[in-house]
Amino acid sequence: MDKILSNVKLFRGEIWHIIQKLSPTGLPVPTLKCFEHGALAVNANGFIEAVGAFSEVKKRFAQASVVNLEGHLILPGFIDPHLHFPQLDIIGCYGEKLLRWLERYTFKEETQFSNPSLSKETSCRFITELFAHGITSSMVFAATFFSSADLLFKEALHRGCRMIVGKVSMDRNAPERLLQGAEEDFDDNQALIKKWHGKEGRLYCALTPRFAPACSKRLLSKLQELKSCFPDLYVQTHHSETLEEVKWVKKLFPGFPDYLSIYERYGFLGPRTVLAHSIHATESEIRRIAETKTKVVHCPTSNLFLGSGLFPLNRFAKRKASVSLGSDIGGGTSLSPWTTMNEAYKIQQLLKENITPESLFYMSTLGAATSIDMAHLIGNFEKGKAADFQVLNIGKHRLLSRRFKTVESAKERLFAMMMMADDRIVEEVFIQGRSVYRA
Ligand code: GUN
Ligand code: ZN
Repeated sequence: MDKILSNVKLFRGEIWHIIQKLSPTGLPVPTLKCFEHGALAVNANGFIEAVGAFSEVKKRFAQASVVNLEGHLILPGFIDPHLHFPQLDIIGCYGEKLLRWLERYTFKEETQFSNPSLSKETSCRFITELFAHGITSSMVFAATFFSSADLLFKEALHRGCRMIVGKVSMDRNAPERLLQGAEEDFDDNQALIKKWHGKEGRLYCALTPRFAPACSKRLLSKLQELKSCFPDLYVQTHHSETLEEVKWVKKLFPGFPDYLSIYERYGFLGPRTVLAHSIHATESEIRRIAETKTKVVHCPTSNLFLGSGLFPLNRFAKRKASVSLGSDIGGGTSLSPWTTMNEAYKIQQLLKENITPESLFYMSTLGAATSIDMAHLIGNFEKGKAADFQVLNIGKHRLLSRRFKTVESAKERLFAMMMMADDRIVEEVFIQGRSVYRA
């Protein structure tokens, strides 16, 4: 017994998480680590003291109280690094490609978010939905309006979630009411940064130029100014989602060699920048994404729904570019990271590529933590990290619980979950050791 910490709690159950093992050639390989009769030791500040077999952990923390979750799975909280909170209620708008979908449904819906009471009410439901799907951290687009981001932050603070939020910056190619001039946008961003960036170590701001076609050069320069004043700000945007969009970008920015060079020119690439999609990125763009440690989020349900394309994961992997998975609600059609992994798997099947269950799970947990530059804090159950986790009850899913009786290995079970699981199995969610949600 090396510690007599009476304020440590042991969460006892079946524990799964991903660790990075080095391959014989020195490459990190996502590896599933399971403790069938396990325990997660969490200290009074909500950080992990240990993970392992219950009998071992119990010996080390003999005084600790035990929260008995036997019969349940304990997994790291999922991380969704790309979604749009004002699009929560437009999931599944019929039959359009990206640019028409934005025009017909999305911009109209986002315009409604000039009304703070809608932002307030939607923020509350949005966070409940995240928790209900086992998501503890997220990187989120608000609407253009200051209040839409401010009220989401306020709700996130109150509910205890970990969230990066950006007020969308856009000053052209959308309805007038959704646009904002570069100076006013700068002031609003500055006010958000002052109020929220780094709050309680859980809330952070992201500069959020919607995508190049919606931003003038003036707007991009003002955002660059902010990024150089606050280098630890996150940046999130869309990149190379559809071929039509890529063509349009060429027309709008004639002097630029490719789409990525616009974001490059304005100083946006780097380890705290998250690009959604990048499906049609060229080899040179992928190389520069990898070199600058810029992060890409693959959003399979959105790509399939909007017919945007099949994400060439292998081309990114070959260049060691970091790719994680996101829902892209409301272009995406499910908040469930299980469904996102499911569709990501199928896209690679169509491309005749293989992706392992471990890699998929990594891309929604530890890999997604890397995407948002928080792998030191979240993503798995390593000692010293925040205890963000979900408690799952497979018994809530009739067919899945039958499957669990027929498959032995955790790996096979993990894959079955990717193909079959959804929010009905999420029973409780903890962030930094504190319960934030019970089904
Ligand atoms: N590109 C620019 N805006 C959006 C958006 O809201 N959703 C998606 N999927 N792509 C975009
Ligand atoms: Zn998006």
